[in-house]
Amino acid sequence: MQDPLAIALRDLRGSVRWNVPMRPMTHVRIGGPAQCLVAPLSEEDVALVVRVCRDLDVPMHVLGGGSNVLVADRGVRGVVVHLGALNRVVRDGTRLTAGAGVTVPSLLRGAREAGLAGLEVLTGVPAEVGGAVAMNAGTREGETFDRLHALTVVDRNAEVSVLERADFRPSYRDGGLGGRVVVDATFDLDEDDPKAIYARFESFLRYRNATQPVSERSVGCVFKNPAGESAGRLIEQAGCKLMRRGAIQVSARHANYFVNDGEGTAADFLGLIRDVRARVRDVFGTELQLEVKTWGFREEELRLAES
Ligand code: EPU
Repeated sequence: MQDPLAIALRDLRGSVRWNVPMRPMTHVRIGGPAQCLVAPLSEEDVALVVRVCRDLDVPMHVLGGGSNVLVADRGVRGVVVHLGALNRVVRDGTRLTAGAGVTVPSLLRGAREAGLAGLEVLTGVPAEVGGAVAMNAGTREGETFDRLHALTVVDRNAEVSVLERADFRPSYRDGGLGGRVVVDATFDLDEDDPKAIYARFESFLRYRNATQPVSERSVGCVFKNPAGESAGRLIEQAGCKLMRRGAIQVSARHANYFVNDGEGTAADFLGLIRDVRARVRDVFGTELQLEVKTWGFREEELRLAES
């Protein structure tokens, strides 16, 4: 008998693959298989996936660039949606509308070449537009919602709608989408000389490359910065640099990065999260909160990493 999920996804335009290893799809190169990996071709197809998952009560995760997600070694149940096919960028005056699957680096390049400024603050963010919006990705210079004008989303009822910036209450590393899936995002930018935009971009990139292990396998920053503090500084001062579990190590360059320098596992990554969190709690009394998204773990595994 055929799986009800497979039957329900029959009419989807786009690819539907089963039991797909997530490891190559994440920057940190960790993670077991997704039960079902879906790559819809249009917003109607995204809506179809949302409706099917809701109706069949199947868990759904949206994968962006795979740069800030830790997938369990056993993999992830249900549907992982990747919106890489939604990769158009359209200009309207000083506004750019980018599909959820456009990579942030390519959006920045396009904006720069068009002489549109404002997105440089996202220099070095390795995400796709949908993921960057969902978690309000950012740097010390600014965050994704700073220039956001409107979003096309698919809501929990599988309806497609266009919402204004004022409809959202984003906060630090959280777009506050409440389960809505981003289809595209429109940014309001300023005209500027491409050379001046490039100069800002280059100086931000130089800082990032000098202070972060950008070419190593990681999930980006593991923890959110506590208000007014830097998680990296706390972790370093608590003496955690170079702490290790298996192939996962606290980076010597930036302590809020854990790098996978071999065949690292999610179990070791989560174990190191626990070790670092406990040491920072002992030394500073500060509870670090996860920035990285965790998929496929059991409640008790995540609770243990918090204890
Ligand atoms: N620091 C240390 N030791 C470390 C790391 C940092 O002492 O191991 C010190 C630095 O010397 C500096 C201060 O902590 O004085 C802040 O460090 P940094 O400028 O690297 O910034 P951050 O607060 O650690 C934030 C974002 C990064 C973003 C950078 C640069 C968070 C959690 N991190 O890091 O974003 O790239 O600013 O703009 O908000 C991410 O969110 O995934 C991320 C990488």
